[in-house]
Amino acid sequence: MAVIAVVGGQWGDEGKGKVVDLLAERADMVVRFSGGDNAGHTVVNPYGEFTLHLIPSGIFYPRVTCIIGNGVAINPAVLLTEMQELQKHGIDTGRLFISDRAHLIMPYHTLLDELEEERRSKGAIGTTRKGIGPVFADKVARVGIRAGDLLDKDMFRNRLRAALEFKNTVLTKAYEVSPLSLEEIYDQYCRYGQQLAPLIRDTTSTVREAVTTGHSVLLEGAQGALLDPDFGTYPYVTSSSPLAGAGCIGAGLGPREIDRVMGVFKAYNSRVGAGPMPTELKDEVGNFIREKAREYGATTGRPRRCGWFDAVAGRFSVQINGLSDIALTHLDIYDGFPSIKVCTAYRFNDEVLTSFPSDAAVLEECQPVYEELDGWQQSIGETREFDRLPTEARDYMSRLEDLLSCPIGLVSVGPDRKQIVPVKWISPWE
Ligand code: IMP
Repeated sequence: MAVIAVVGGQWGDEGKGKVVDLLAERADMVVRFSGGDNAGHTVVNPYGEFTLHLIPSGIFYPRVTCIIGNGVAINPAVLLTEMQELQKHGIDTGRLFISDRAHLIMPYHTLLDELEEERRSKGAIGTTRKGIGPVFADKVARVGIRAGDLLDKDMFRNRLRAALEFKNTVLTKAYEVSPLSLEEIYDQYCRYGQQLAPLIRDTTSTVREAVTTGHSVLLEGAQGALLDPDFGTYPYVTSSSPLAGAGCIGAGLGPREIDRVMGVFKAYNSRVGAGPMPTELKDEVGNFIREKAREYGATTGRPRRCGWFDAVAGRFSVQINGLSDIALTHLDIYDGFPSIKVCTAYRFNDEVLTSFPSDAAVLEECQPVYEELDGWQQSIGETREFDRLPTEARDYMSRLEDLLSCPIGLVSVGPDRKQIVPVKWISPWE
């Protein structure tokens, strides 16, 4: 039995939902540890196709306890809608719990996110406008409202009054919009509180109990390493850490308690929102990948920017996450490509960079240095054994392993649960 973290290796949308869904089959607990409803995990299973924004993908398995950890920012309206949607499809949500320490996204967070993006105009980050920046800013500024606050109406009212007083000053004076009503928010959030009360608990002790009694725990990340506020393409990043290290903090575990860290990478790169992406293809190849892979934001519907695999960024992601192995997804998208490029270095002025720059302005100027590999001319969607994959596909994976200095454990060859091929796979639950 073990604790496994599953994290995104690129700019999010790598297919973590599918990998978590696969591993959750034999897990006892799945804990989401960061982000908020800016994330969208698509899962295709016998119940249908679902996009989960907050609820861990383990919810489809009746024996799995699902936790939304303290590191997640929760929009209660989104959570309740998601629960109702699952219940409508006959999925039991009775094993879902949320941390009393998780911060709540309030109406002023989403409003401020929107107003701030409008104000930035051409310099906008391209956020999902779900209130993520403002809610995590309030968390560290020590003025946030947490799920546990909903359990004590008087305390909640006092905290909300104090927070709203300042937010309304900002809204009216800085952005010149109407103030928000204390009574309306209070009543609305008390109703949410009533519905969510049975789920709210000190999940740290629930997770601790599972770990100390030898249960299998999966830590489910959101977004990807290159959106990390410290190590990503700052300021074009999200506002909570998507790294495996955040799995400890966002669930309430110590670093020594994580046994394995799986990084999910797409066979190519994609990014949604603004910010540098050296391998972006603004041509028919990029468009072809986008259409074939349905690369449109699961949360916002925005078209994703697509490009060749960036091994410089990928290597950095392996290092900062301390990855044990990789799940490579969407390899089938390359079926029929005459050749496939991989970025192995960046050219910056007269220099060749092999490490990921810390400055987004430098990365913006970087030109990719490519290596070109042979493509394969057959469909791999029905293949279930590594040895039966075309030689070129195996060579492509082998080259990625060399460039990233990390083994590939699994490769996904289509959206369905069954479309997975073990590569150097060792099940974490043996
Ligand atoms: P925010 O997290 O909504 O503040 O957005 C900040 C940046 O992160 C924007 O570029 C978003 O497009 C990006 N982002 C946030 N969540 C996701 C995700 O789940 N997948 C991909 N990009 C994301």
